[in-house]
Amino acid sequence: MKFLIINGPNLNMLGIREPDIYGKQDFKALVAYIEQCCAENGVECKTFQSNHEGDIVDEIQAAYGVMDAIVINPAAYTHTSVAILDALKAVALPAVEVHLSDIYTREEFRHVSYPSMACLKSIYGKGFEGYKEAIEYLKKYIEER
Ligand code: DQA
Repeated sequence: MKFLIINGPNLNMLGIREPDIYGKQDFKALVAYIEQCCAENGVECKTFQSNHEGDIVDEIQAAYGVMDAIVINPAAYTHTSVAILDALKAVALPAVEVHLSDIYTREEFRHVSYPSMACLKSIYGKGFEGYKEAIEYLKKYIEER
């Protein structure tokens, strides 16, 4: 089983970026956490981070026929990107959306998520643990399918 884990813009700035909201651990620690969760679940993973919408679309398209599932934190593109929504719909892989913070208790513009419309589940406000929950959920979903 092979999962693609996508992190969108500014998540590479974790640890520096608004630590009161996103925590003090850096992006390297997030990637290590994700890789460990995947290994514990016997899942192979590819992690990908980009600050560019088109690169994220390209990566989702490249997952077609190669990956079994996608975990995505589209970051700010969550609230704007029909292109990412359409790419997820195009490849039609089981996908889960993750946000470190609770987007529904923050500014109103964060309450809309386009990619969630192509995701089986959205997990938010659980910090790094949200990725673990997403990996476990998708593994179970694929096994039971
Ligand atoms: C985020 C929430 C988004 O609103 C924000 O633009 C981000 C990070 C989160 O993980 O909580 O960059 O996706």
